[in-house]
Amino acid sequence: MSDIHFNKEEGSKLKLFTPGPVYVPERVLKAISLPSDTHRSGPYSEMHAKAVEGLQKLLYTENKCLIFTSSATGIMEACVRNLLKSDEKGLFLSIGAFGDRWYQVGETNGKNVVKETVEWGKPIIPELAQEALSKDKYSVVFLQSNETSTGVYNPMEDLIPVIKDHDPNLIVCVDATSSMAGIKLEIDKLGIDVCLASVQKCLALPPGLAVCSISDAAIEKAGQVKNRGYYFDFLTLVKKNKVNQTPNTPPIPQIRGLVTQLDYILNEEGLEKRFQRHTQLGKRTRMWARDMNIEMFPEKGYESNTVSTMKNTLNIDYAEMVNRMLLKGYRIVNGYGSLVNKTFRIGHMGEISLKDLENMLKILTDVIAKLRLNA
Ligand SMILES: Cc1ncc(COP(=O)(O)O)c(C=O)c1O
Repeated sequence: MSDIHFNKEEGSKLKLFTPGPVYVPERVLKAISLPSDTHRSGPYSEMHAKAVEGLQKLLYTENKCLIFTSSATGIMEACVRNLLKSDEKGLFLSIGAFGDRWYQVGETNGKNVVKETVEWGKPIIPELAQEALSKDKYSVVFLQSNETSTGVYNPMEDLIPVIKDHDPNLIVCVDATSSMAGIKLEIDKLGIDVCLASVQKCLALPPGLAVCSISDAAIEKAGQVKNRGYYFDFLTLVKKNKVNQTPNTPPIPQIRGLVTQLDYILNEEGLEKRFQRHTQLGKRTRMWARDMNIEMFPEKGYESNTVSTMKNTLNIDYAEMVNRMLLKGYRIVNGYGSLVNKTFRIGHMGEISLKDLENMLKILTDVIAKLRLNA
């Protein structure tokens, strides 16, 4: 097994069907292994500018885009610290484990936070958001586009306008960690103030970097908030971003990888094609589940196209299933947190092709058949 996980020459040889970190393509590995200049050099700034420009295209936005030396949770914390004043309330619309985590980030930062939830597997529908907003006066709303634990994709195109219509001054922060670069989300059209993600999911880069778009309204708001902290102060990041730099030393090779990947996504695969491929991957996985008599965990119509969460309809040992897949060279994952063994998940994000998915599903079908025979 260790040879599969840690091969001295080739690294891990496992085929990852995970909701991140995911398989990293050769072009990115090559790019990040190249030598770089320092983060205060002209060549770095050129590279930084390219990354920002690419992110703006990816997110359909003219807003500024920032690069963080952290995973997504760092920006989730930055949103809480930079955008909520001490006398204001933040509303967290949670549909699963990562929504709950954002609320917890708010709580542990001593902010005034309120959480509205749904039964896991369900989305936040516009009526529910409306109802939640009308209960109190909120300044910032936090929500996931794609909830990686339940495999639910919120109806963002309907939901965000309802939130914005309720109060145009509301700042809306979206955690798109497991859908950015996999599912289309038009930031400016919807008026999303902060849209964040880490790069080890649909962007298919190694972990360690996170990105976000930030509106002028959010930047202005940060200017009114005290105690924003030091490392994740939006204003310091925005100031340095103006000269195409970061306040502190960033993972320069990672940013080279990001530029390489954005160039591939925008100019070789094409955005629409990339979104379509993810749609096909989601559909194919759901078709397979139906044929296997495995029920999807999300409510019908709200299933994610980047990660499929499936119930334990067949009553099999999912931990053992995951182990047997590992022996075949594939990593799929058990349910997240409280959903462990009650669900399992297939990640189909990043660079996975339909053919890759078909090959994996064939093997998984066989593994499940043997498990059912108790073989
Ligand atoms: C929806 C969502 N939000 C946040 C996170 C946390 O991301 P990170 O581990 O990059 O901080 C994850 C990780 O899986 C996620 O799926």
